[in-house]
Amino acid sequence: MTTSEHLDLTSVAARSIAYDTYAALRYENPVARVRMPTGQDVWLVTGYDESASFLADYNRFKTSPTVMPEGMEMPALPEAVVRLLGGSMGSVDPPEHTRQRRLVQMAFTPQYVERLRPGVQQITDQLIDGLLARPDRTFDLVEDFAVPLPLTVMSDMLGIPRADRDRFRLWSELLLSLDPTSAQSAPQGMSPMEVMAEIEEFVRYLDALIQHKRAEPGDDLISGMALAEADGERMTDEDLLKMVALLVVGGLGTTQHLIGNMVLALFRNPDQLALLRSKPDLAPSAVEEMLRYHGPIEISFPRFAAEDTEIGGVPIRRGEMVIAVLAAADRDPNRYADPDRLDIERTPNRHLAFGRGAHMCLGAPLARVEGQVAINTLLARMPDLHPAENIDDTPWRPGLTLRGLSALSVAF
Ligand code: HEM
Repeated sequence: MTTSEHLDLTSVAARSIAYDTYAALRYENPVARVRMPTGQDVWLVTGYDESASFLADYNRFKTSPTVMPEGMEMPALPEAVVRLLGGSMGSVDPPEHTRQRRLVQMAFTPQYVERLRPGVQQITDQLIDGLLARPDRTFDLVEDFAVPLPLTVMSDMLGIPRADRDRFRLWSELLLSLDPTSAQSAPQGMSPMEVMAEIEEFVRYLDALIQHKRAEPGDDLISGMALAEADGERMTDEDLLKMVALLVVGGLGTTQHLIGNMVLALFRNPDQLALLRSKPDLAPSAVEEMLRYHGPIEISFPRFAAEDTEIGGVPIRRGEMVIAVLAAADRDPNRYADPDRLDIERTPNRHLAFGRGAHMCLGAPLARVEGQVAINTLLARMPDLHPAENIDDTPWRPGLTLRGLSALSVAF
């Protein structure tokens, strides 16, 4: 067992060498005791097999910290935050998790997501039309493309006026900034009081939206979730509030970073870029490889051991916190040949970028559609898309939860 004191995983400098850090950790011990930037000691699981079986085992490892040892308390959170995130699907275990997941899954079916594809294509085309009209033929791929694409898709999917998109972006970033491992500071230098006032405003907005959708159901996901029924049960207003907040937190930054990470990875691997340009049908397999190679979610939600147990033979005590490092598992040489090589034709490629088991990403089908449409449309409509700056040192944004870029200057 290793305790690596002060292991820096979140700074900008640490982000650029994170894959090497994980490789060393995985080589030394695929289940290691590590001190997090928050000062907390946790188990980090970096091996693929260990991570996959750990994530799938919701009997031994719970997302809800009800099994924390005596004396260790969760910090008290403001009421608005509790209403938005407390007891939401990502942080509860079966059977409550099963209840919520079943209801949302009835509305968020793969068929529903496929029906969104033409809309995703149209949104992407409109964005690219605007970019192609730029006289200087340059733009920031993150801010001008990767951000608005999922934001507009999400607004349309939830039935929110497009005019309110920017408020949703702010609310999503503010909720993410509450996660200490995200190391994301509140946007625009907002004070904690201003942050809380915005979060309260988000709750008021969603309360009103949900009432409106109940009174006048439309063709959107909130209306679909409100009407979904399983065994005579429906979502309550509080269920809906938490679910929409979770979709907004889980579905924006992630997809944004997938798009940015894909473009950077292709720029850095010109042979793979040329291959995808010549064979656009490879987009589905290319997106899977990008998810493995530069997955936007680097670590799983924390889990807590429900009993004294073990992972890969390493003893874990009841109540201890365990996190799977998805980015490390997905580069495990015991699982993948030449794991640090980008190979858009890699097969099989059953990566862990969307997690595994009960909490496996609900939005994966949508993220895949967005990723495929985004990359193919960009490459098709901008045949000369290239970096506008040296990309050797493009910095990753700080923080441990999300891997992504703050900016990527491109020209066409
Ligand atoms: C490339 C984009 C995305 C990635 C890499 C990603 C990754 C993940 C991962 C790893 C988990 C599971 C974490 C764990 O078990 O510890 C997760 C859960 C979740 N994701 Fe995603 N996600 C993405 C996009 C989306 C989108 C677009 C949405 C919504 C439309 C979404 C909604 C959710 C929800 C609701 C959960 C919780 C599921 C549950 O607890 O049952 N995600 N995601």
